[in-house]
Amino acid sequence: MKMFRTKILGTGSFVPDKVLTNDDIAKRVETNHQWIVERTGIHTRRISDPAKDELPSGMAAKAAIRALEMANLTPNDIDLILFSVTIPDMFFPNTASVLQEKLGMTNNCACLDVNAACSGWIYAYPMADALIKTGVYKHIMMVGCEMTSGFNNWDDRNTCILFGDGCGVTIMGRASEGEDAQVYSTVLSSDSTKKDHLMLAAGGAAKPIREEVLKNNEQWVTMNGQEVFKAAVKTMASHCDKLLQESGITLDQVKWFIPHQANLRIIEATANRLNFPMEKVAINVDKYANTSSASIPIALDDFVRDGKIQRGDIVLMAAFGAGLTSGAVLIKY
Ligand code: COA
Repeated sequence: MKMFRTKILGTGSFVPDKVLTNDDIAKRVETNHQWIVERTGIHTRRISDPAKDELPSGMAAKAAIRALEMANLTPNDIDLILFSVTIPDMFFPNTASVLQEKLGMTNNCACLDVNAACSGWIYAYPMADALIKTGVYKHIMMVGCEMTSGFNNWDDRNTCILFGDGCGVTIMGRASEGEDAQVYSTVLSSDSTKKDHLMLAAGGAAKPIREEVLKNNEQWVTMNGQEVFKAAVKTMASHCDKLLQESGITLDQVKWFIPHQANLRIIEATANRLNFPMEKVAINVDKYANTSSASIPIALDDFVRDGKIQRGDIVLMAAFGAGLTSGAVLIKY
C-alpha cells in the first residue's frame, strides 16, 4: 500500500469583533483586572454575536475560507470535515454538516463532529493523519471552533473570567515527493476519574433543560480550578516528553511549543517542567482567553501568518480539557 506524509496545506482563523475586557466583567461580578491578570494572564476575550452568524458553524465558515485560500483549494476538494466543538450549533445534524452547507459544498463529503472538550482539535489530528497517510482521503478540513459564551455563567467569577469565543481551521493533505513535512508522533488520553472537575451537566439526556434545572442554575459550566490546573500541567508535560522520546527529537530541535491556551500560569508551569524556554512558546491567552479546542489552531494560524512558523520547523502542540482529556502532537510543518 502506498503511504503518504501528512502536511498542513493551509491555516485560517476567525475571532469575533466584540472584545470583553476584565473591567467589563468586574462590572457584573466581584473581581478585578489585576486579579485576573495575575492568576490567568488573560486581559481580554472575544464574544460572538449569533445575529452576525458567529455560531460555531458561522465562525468556522469564515476561518475555513481563509484556510482554503492558503491551501489553494476549493470547498469541494475536501473529502472529510472533522469539526471539534463542545457546544455545537445544535445536537443534530452535526455542525460539520451545517458547515458543509455554509461553504456551498456539493460533493457530499463526510462530516463528523468531535467532542473531547478543549483537547478536541488535538484529538482530531491523529485521526486525520491516519486517513491521509493511508490514502483513504486526500484533503481533510480540521476545525476547532467554540462558542464558549454559550456555556459561560456570567455570574460565576470562578469560571466566567476564563473563556472566549473563536475558531481555527487547518487543511490537511499529502506532502509531495521530496517534502519532509510529517507527523512524527501523537498521543491521546483521558482520565475519567477526574471527569467531575470540569463539566456542563445539564442539557443532555441525563439532565434535560427543564424548569428545575434553570431554577438551580445548572445549565452552566462548573469547575474545580485547582484540580484541573494540576492535572493539566502534569499530563501535558508527560505527553510532550513521551513524544520527544519516541521520535528521537530533542527539545533544542523544537522551534515552537503551542500549548492549549487555558491559563498563562499553566503554560509557564508546563514549559518549566519540560525545561522549555518561554521565548519559544506560543501565547494568545492574553488576547483571546481560553477558546477551548480553537486555541491551538488559532495560535498556529497567527504564527504561520506572522512568518514565525516556517516550512521545515518542528512544532510541538499539547492540549487538555474536560474528561479529563489530553493529547499532544509533534510535527514538522
Ligand atoms: N476574582 C477575584 N477573586 C476570585 C476570583 C475572581 N475572578 N475567582 C476566585 N476568586 C477567589 C476565590 O473565591 C478564593 O477566595 P478565598 O480564598 O476567599 O476562598 C481566592 O480567589 C483563590 O481562589 P482559587 O480558586 O484558589 O484561585 P486559583 O489561584 O486556583 O485561581 C483559577 C483560580 C480558576 C484561575 C485557576 O485555578 C485555574 O486557572 N485553574 C485551571 C482552570 C482551567 O484552565 N480550566 C479550563 C480547562 S480547559
